[in-house]
Amino acid sequence: MKNKIMIIASIMAISSNELSAQTGEELFNNKCSFCHSTSRPADMSKVTAPAIMGVMRHIKMSYPDKDKAISFMKDYILNPSMDKAICMPQKIKRFGVMPSQKGLVTEKELDIILPWIYDKFPPKSFRGMREGRGMGQK
Ligand code: HEC
Repeated sequence: MKNKIMIIASIMAISSNELSAQTGEELFNNKCSFCHSTSRPADMSKVTAPAIMGVMRHIKMSYPDKDKAISFMKDYILNPSMDKAICMPQKIKRFGVMPSQKGLVTEKELDIILPWIYDKFPPKSFRGMREGRGMGQK
């Protein structure tokens, strides 16, 4: 009996280690990219949220400081509201306020995801969706 518990405990320890070893990219793909596309969406009618490069462009316009941007996003993702939002009003009108991700993503995971999206998006060549360079990889 004791042995069994030991085995279960070590399996749990291994799998939780694996979880914490996930990269920002993997976590983003699991938790956020369902709504926030990382590329220019092919079919706009299926889009449920602004693509992440557009989101990050606006975040950086409002919060040029990385730490402030991260703490703003961390709060927003768990407690979103209309009056905090930095997204353009027409986006909010179209998509609604982002649903709180409380219970779906942990603060620990956000500590990994947020610096990654801050550094990665928008890609350097990005000049807004209109100009058609949203797909630029760098
Ligand atoms: C169920 C769909 C959905 C999921 C899942 C989702 N978002 Fe959002 N998100 C939205 C929508 C819709 C908006 C635009 C409206 C708004 O700003 O609230 C948005 C806006 C945002 C904004 C801009 C907030 C602002 O100030 O306006 C950030 C940053 C963001 N999301 C990050 C994330 C991250 C990181 C994740 C993953 C942990 C995530 N989102 C998961 C739908 C989603």
